[in-house]
Amino acid sequence: MKQRENFGSKLGIIMATAGSALGLGNIYRFPCEAGANGGGAFLIVYLIVALLMGTTLMVAEFIIGRRSHSNPIGAFRVLEGKKNGWMSIGWLGVVCAFLVLAFYTTVAGWTLGYLGKSVANHFEGQDLGQIQGQFVSFTNHPWLPIVCQLIFLALTAVVVARGIKDGIEKWSKILMPMLLVIMVVLCVKSLTLNGAADGLRFFFTPDFSKINGKVLISALGQSFFSLSIGMGALITYGSYIGSKDNMLSSSTSVVFADTLVAVLAGVIIFPAAFTFGVQPEAGASLAFTTLPMVFQQMTGGYFFCLIFFLLLVIATLTSTISLLEVIVATTTEELHISRPKAAILGSLTTAVIGVLATLSFREGSPLHLNGQTVFDMLDHITALYLMPIGGLMIVLFVGWRMKKADTLDELTNGGTLRAGIRKVVYYLIRYVAPVAIVVIFISQLVK
Ligand code: PHE
Repeated sequence: MKQRENFGSKLGIIMATAGSALGLGNIYRFPCEAGANGGGAFLIVYLIVALLMGTTLMVAEFIIGRRSHSNPIGAFRVLEGKKNGWMSIGWLGVVCAFLVLAFYTTVAGWTLGYLGKSVANHFEGQDLGQIQGQFVSFTNHPWLPIVCQLIFLALTAVVVARGIKDGIEKWSKILMPMLLVIMVVLCVKSLTLNGAADGLRFFFTPDFSKINGKVLISALGQSFFSLSIGMGALITYGSYIGSKDNMLSSSTSVVFADTLVAVLAGVIIFPAAFTFGVQPEAGASLAFTTLPMVFQQMTGGYFFCLIFFLLLVIATLTSTISLLEVIVATTTEELHISRPKAAILGSLTTAVIGVLATLSFREGSPLHLNGQTVFDMLDHITALYLMPIGGLMIVLFVGWRMKKADTLDELTNGGTLRAGIRKVVYYLIRYVAPVAIVVIFISQLVK
């Protein structure tokens, strides 16, 4: 077998996986979903699902990746052979990565645009109406958001073309911790705003009567999206994990960090929203209007705003890298084309659908289907259907199709790690995770 690259160290795996997990899912999508689904009610369901199921699914994907040393499609061929249908899980994952990357780069482009705005000091002295106006005029601009999106895709392709160690690992190690620090600073500021108490009440007080099937599936979809699970990104990263690394402890660290950043984002955004009079249900514009308002109130706001959007761009980049890596690992290994070629081809194809998603945001755009923009449609299809279905098939595969001895062998690194808690994880993979996904899936169908 061809020698594949591995991550350089344990910290490298955690940082690269955290790099994939941390991104717009935490800072843009999580507050959006929490705001639309009743705040505290969403948060409590999210915490349970992310902490319990997130770790379980992450480990399950790592097991498939490391055992097969292959991309999501190749993995099932290595473990199962070509004949039965398991390879379709891999196909589903690659298609999902492609669709996510398409609409994800729309918002990724906005972060780049907002980095430009913060350099040019566009937010100083602006009131809420003007800042909201800036969001509308930026997303409606005839070419700017598209150019930003394409630049973002090109950046992603450059990093992915250079391979694993040089690219992904080096970046993630330095910059992810910096993002955490700046978010803590922002949190402290948000907590001093007038509306802090109202914002915190909205975000932290669960109104249990609001928990319904829609909240459950939204929380499930958000946790999969935010943790990059259910679509092969972590099978791919798992394939670069060395035989001595402790996958359970790495997964737990990543899930913890990812959840922490999402909660921090909520603690920054909701107090600000209640202070400045932005609806928590504002959707796409929520983060892009509240955050500039917070910076405006801060001493050194210009500087903080600049650093924040710079780090957000990078956090987003480490996520787009992991998405493109799924496509590139698959095409290089399955179609035997070179990494740079695969990166160019993958990003060009993504660009076609991605641009449609960006255009669909414009007011009066005809790119609507059933009253939904192409952007929302891609978001819903992937987060509410493809990722949960992919996740379900992955846990069924690891829990029921793989031999128990093989799964435990991966979990314990051939018996060198203690089995105790790892046996619990095995049962979570085998019973709890599939049942939970199915129940949540069905709950949204029953009104
Ligand atoms: N988890 C990333 C985020 O939260 C998005 C992502 C989804 C990345 C799926 C890879 C795979 O921003």
